[in-house]
Amino acid sequence: MKVLVPALSTSLLLLAFIHPATSFKAGDFKTCSQSGFCRRGRALAERARENVDNWHSPYSVDPLSLSLVSERASLTARVKSELYPDIKFSLEVHVHEDGVIRVRMDEVDGLRKRYDEAAKWALAAEPSISTDIQWKVDASRARAAFGQQREHEVVVDFKPLRVVLNKNGKEQVVINGRGLLHMEHFRNKTVEEPQVETEEEGSDTQEVLKVNPNAWFEGNSEDAFWEESFGSWTDTKPKGPESLSLDIDFPRHGHVYGIPQHATSLDLPTTTGENPFFEEPYRFYNADVFEYLASATTSLYGSIPLMHAHSADSTVAIFNVVGSEAWIDIAHPNTHSTSTHWISESGILDLFILSGPTPTDVFRQYGGLTGTAPLPAHWALGYHQCRWNYVSSDDVRGVQKRFDEEDMPVDVFWLDIEYSTDHQYMIWDKKNFPDPVEMTNDVAALGRKMVVIVDPHLKRVDDYPVYKQARDLGILVKQKNGQDDYEGWCWPGSSAWVDFFNPASWEFWKSLFKTTKGSSWSWIESTEDIHIWNDMNEPSVFNGPEITMPKDLVHYGGWEHRDIHNINGMFLPKVTSEGLIARGATPKRPFVLTRSFFAGSQRYSAMWTGDNLGTWEHMTVGIKMVLSNGIAGMTFAGSDVGGFFGNPESEMLVRWYWVGAFSPFFRAHAHLDSKRREPYLLDEPHRSTVRNILRLRYSLLPVWYTAFHETSVTGLPILRPHYVIFPQDEAGFSIDDQFYLGSSGLLVKPVTRPGVTEEIVYIPEDKVYYDYFTYQTYRGSPKGKHVTVPAELHQLPLLVRGGSIVPTRDRPRRASSLMHRDPFTLRVALDESLTAHGELYLDDGVTYAHKEGHLAWRGFSVNNAGAQLRLSNVDLAAATPRSAVEGGAIATFDRQNAFQRGIESVRVERVVVLGLPDRPKRVVVEGGHDLEWEYAPGVAAGAKKDGVASVLTIKNPRLGVASDWAIQITL
Ligand code: GLC
Repeated sequence: MKVLVPALSTSLLLLAFIHPATSFKAGDFKTCSQSGFCRRGRALAERARENVDNWHSPYSVDPLSLSLVSERASLTARVKSELYPDIKFSLEVHVHEDGVIRVRMDEVDGLRKRYDEAAKWALAAEPSISTDIQWKVDASRARAAFGQQREHEVVVDFKPLRVVLNKNGKEQVVINGRGLLHMEHFRNKTVEEPQVETEEEGSDTQEVLKVNPNAWFEGNSEDAFWEESFGSWTDTKPKGPESLSLDIDFPRHGHVYGIPQHATSLDLPTTTGENPFFEEPYRFYNADVFEYLASATTSLYGSIPLMHAHSADSTVAIFNVVGSEAWIDIAHPNTHSTSTHWISESGILDLFILSGPTPTDVFRQYGGLTGTAPLPAHWALGYHQCRWNYVSSDDVRGVQKRFDEEDMPVDVFWLDIEYSTDHQYMIWDKKNFPDPVEMTNDVAALGRKMVVIVDPHLKRVDDYPVYKQARDLGILVKQKNGQDDYEGWCWPGSSAWVDFFNPASWEFWKSLFKTTKGSSWSWIESTEDIHIWNDMNEPSVFNGPEITMPKDLVHYGGWEHRDIHNINGMFLPKVTSEGLIARGATPKRPFVLTRSFFAGSQRYSAMWTGDNLGTWEHMTVGIKMVLSNGIAGMTFAGSDVGGFFGNPESEMLVRWYWVGAFSPFFRAHAHLDSKRREPYLLDEPHRSTVRNILRLRYSLLPVWYTAFHETSVTGLPILRPHYVIFPQDEAGFSIDDQFYLGSSGLLVKPVTRPGVTEEIVYIPEDKVYYDYFTYQTYRGSPKGKHVTVPAELHQLPLLVRGGSIVPTRDRPRRASSLMHRDPFTLRVALDESLTAHGELYLDDGVTYAHKEGHLAWRGFSVNNAGAQLRLSNVDLAAATPRSAVEGGAIATFDRQNAFQRGIESVRVERVVVLGLPDRPKRVVVEGGHDLEWEYAPGVAAGAKKDGVASVLTIKNPRLGVASDWAIQITL
């Protein structure tokens, strides 16, 4: 399929505009054996395996160099390698508050400096080092115990160097246990090296070692030290070899998760030998992979080097903050343990060990390091309608009209690259978009927003003010000579890129989004209702090696692109979101969508899984990828509904809407060549089904918003896989096709195969679950149970866990902004002991007033006092420490805050109680009037058999959703 962009003048240019990877070719991207440092790293591991009995790590700590920082749990020491006695390395090990260990190692006084700023960009704040933990040192090791009962201990073994996390005396994480640590030191290029081939038949190993005594460890050739070629590309490596190999093992954890983004299962498959499907290590090298494979360890658009290791006993994690290209091999020596090998191209060793011991602890620890996803604008949780492209402002108006005619809710209309003149972003193509502000106002008049794309490549023409200013400011990425601006090809043809590592670029970029005239160019033909989509920020360079920038380009500070490649994509959304916050008189929550990301990107943007295909496989893997991104903080995530490429048949499209409606980010998108497929174009009954799906999403917005609030505080993902909620249930460790939505108790299993009429859902506990739509009960068992749930095209396996209270807004509306005063329904799904709990978080959904305490945060509970059940609505905000509110910044919480006052008249209009054992005798408001209710007999929560649950419906109790009250149900 060719992608031709209109409005080009010469045929030469036309050719250049063809996306270089018009069909996925494995050959467009390197395998490990085509990447010099990966080859060296894997060869090192291979030598260690072959010589396992004699193998030892050449690295050791010099005990005499040890220094302990008084009052702080920090240890520093010199490390030597027996291979190179003259080369010095430094080691630092810090015990942080909150059960996190940081290990840093760098070359000291080397010929050059290793890149050491990855953590600076990834971390939200410098973590504090514990002041009440002491190191104990003897001749062979240093150790420090921490944790409530001092059950955790970090041990630094001196010879060979090993760093170990123990829990109750048992090893949990072992670094360099297999002796694969190798920090290649900087060196000068020698004219000719002694070469004796070890591999050749008949060669005498002793002879080899006489000539090159380090060959046992490093191999006997300078493999791609100073240059390497791939296709027609040559990567000059002026700094020479500087890679880092590191083994990180989890002797007691049989499952590992995370390290997104890869199109694999959540429970990460092995890559070494025993797995016939994945022979390549997981690769981190942010790339624009056209038509990516639905099952592969190859790189995709983003990289987050966070890995969870899990067992029924504990969860730990490692966060290896590396910004360069990296590869990770995973093996399972047995079912209860995992070995990993990390090989990265450049940079210091900067590794965090997160001691857990539960998944919730690990999320808190990682959130403490890199920050959590902030509470987004409420409208951003609605439905987003996109395609490449809505071609004119009238097209946008027409699409909006059709949604309204069909009564289909939608919050956001998107514009892809063709809105701009010659792909000069922010410059409207006036032929087709003559009235951009009026168009946006027409959308906003119905309470909706627009998202418009702004890519990072700047068309190199003088009359493009964004380019011209950036060039004049000297903030563009430089060629390898460090002087001249780099030029590459992307959608606009010849392009340049802002070097966002240069602080001088930040104010420049932010000021572009001002909607009023200032001293420099800004986007005055825009409004505060326009938000931004940042794409192609890996960066995608059509004529570059592996469709990105050459590694030897130079960024601010003299760092090579090689050093920062995987961090690069984070900056554009960071600075863009800061620009959106700053553009108006009152700061409003920005929405920015990014394709490329790094650890910490969750602070700035939502993400989507890029150019997926309209196939069932892609629909399936999209769910796994969203779960996996959520593990690593990037929880505001989704896949293109319908698949980017292709023309999905109706059945697939409807199923994809179900998937999208249960993704944190819910957007339909389609390629330029695909047929229009807005949901109103579907034939009946599919059109009505999709309308119902959209309405379901909107009625559940209170649940989504409450889940986002929780995430912003705890770092827990919005979509929670089984192991996160049931860490001891081994049967759930590999489940990634069903998940829970926040703490709401909703369990979802989207259907991702054709022709399905029912679906098997796994219930992991001995509890009653209720079908969300029919109230049919499904009972689990202490060992977990598989149940069969109806799943025709108009149905979704969506169960409510007994013991949950689900707040919804059930009045169909055209956009979420029209729902802010709508009444609530509470669905109370009783558990066997006739109790239940739920939460609801509300605020203005737009500004940052919630950080000043303008919010409502309610807790609903049913308590069972024998003959009476009591459903109460209490104020959680008043009862909870301020640290539990996003930002932790509220000094006082005023129950009369303006937001609460504003929603005094917002009511609960219905309470539905599922699973009562019998018809109630009376239902009253505590201290008040009798309520109107009706009761349909059915199966009780505690019954032995399944069937349709009993339903008590309390009609219009006229109670404020944000006021304190209780309802008594007398049995
Ligand atoms: C990239 C994006 C895609 C977008 C297209 C044109 O392929 O991934 O979503 O539509 O560029 O901007």
